[in-house]
Amino acid sequence: MSFPETRLRRLRQSAPVRALVRETSLERRQLVLPMFVREGLTDAAPIGSMPGVVQHSLDSLRAAASEAAEVGVGGVMLFGVPAVRDATGSGADDPRGILNVATEAIAAEVGDALVVQTDLCLDEFTDHGHCGVLAADGSVDNDATLDRYAAMALAQARAGSQLLGLSGMMDGQVAHLRAALDAEGFQDVLLLAYAAKYASAFYGPFREAVDSQLQGGDRRTYQLDPGNRREGVREAVVDQQEGADIVMVKPAMAFLDVLREVRDAVDIPVWAYQVSGEYAMIEAAAGNGWIDRRAAVLESLLSIRRAGADAVLTYWAVEAARWLRPGS
Ligand code: PBG
Repeated sequence: MSFPETRLRRLRQSAPVRALVRETSLERRQLVLPMFVREGLTDAAPIGSMPGVVQHSLDSLRAAASEAAEVGVGGVMLFGVPAVRDATGSGADDPRGILNVATEAIAAEVGDALVVQTDLCLDEFTDHGHCGVLAADGSVDNDATLDRYAAMALAQARAGSQLLGLSGMMDGQVAHLRAALDAEGFQDVLLLAYAAKYASAFYGPFREAVDSQLQGGDRRTYQLDPGNRREGVREAVVDQQEGADIVMVKPAMAFLDVLREVRDAVDIPVWAYQVSGEYAMIEAAAGNGWIDRRAAVLESLLSIRRAGADAVLTYWAVEAARWLRPGS
């Protein structure tokens, strides 16, 4: 204790001092709730591997989106689960397709209270489960997929989506969709590029949530290799150059180093997606009494913010927003 400056604990002496010097905050408006809506359901159906998360019916989706708006969540990200799938994912750009119908319903209900967002990818709609359409040799055809994405983007914009989540990892998708939207007068529709989306084991429970048809194959020819940090940063930089309004890193907790570097490399908002497997891990540990659920959830979200995320997609958005309400 010879030097006064070594008294680092002075800053931690009491709750008010700690509150005054806390570097990172977590606010309700920085949370986005991913939601699943399944065609043909009359009641919400639980997802076994994601306790507390459901596949919604149109009615339950509407109610849940209103609840999210009411507690101050910043946005909802919709995923559709169609009843019928085909090789080109035609349900994705059909105005009567489940995702577009749901978007219209939600936009009408809560469209000015929070930001209505839609996932833009073909994997939920194709019978082979890939994020794009296939070439004759079975590989995912980049440029043919871009045209399908453009049709999807216009359908989602017409349905009232305010922000499109480009999660397919096709080259050139941001520039292609920006041009397609602008040409039809949708200059104000925001593009969130899943810039650094890794081929991750942490998407496991999501596959159940959307009844993924991907059998045996994997997404390693378009999603990033988990060993690559520089490549993730490069994706984000390219997406910014192509015109992305926001870039995303996904998953979150296993890729916090990438998140920090992306935050430093671009000057647009950076978001992170706390994915299904991250949710399931904490829920499972908490369910066994091995971890303090609320503390672990809030710490995980705060850490993702600290690493550089301006906002976080999280299945806990509504519950966390309640915890973060002033006075609670
Ligand atoms: C693809 C998509 C995936 C997730 C969101 N969008 C799955 C994948 O790429 O394999 C995963 C989200 C999660 O695990 O919570 N459209």
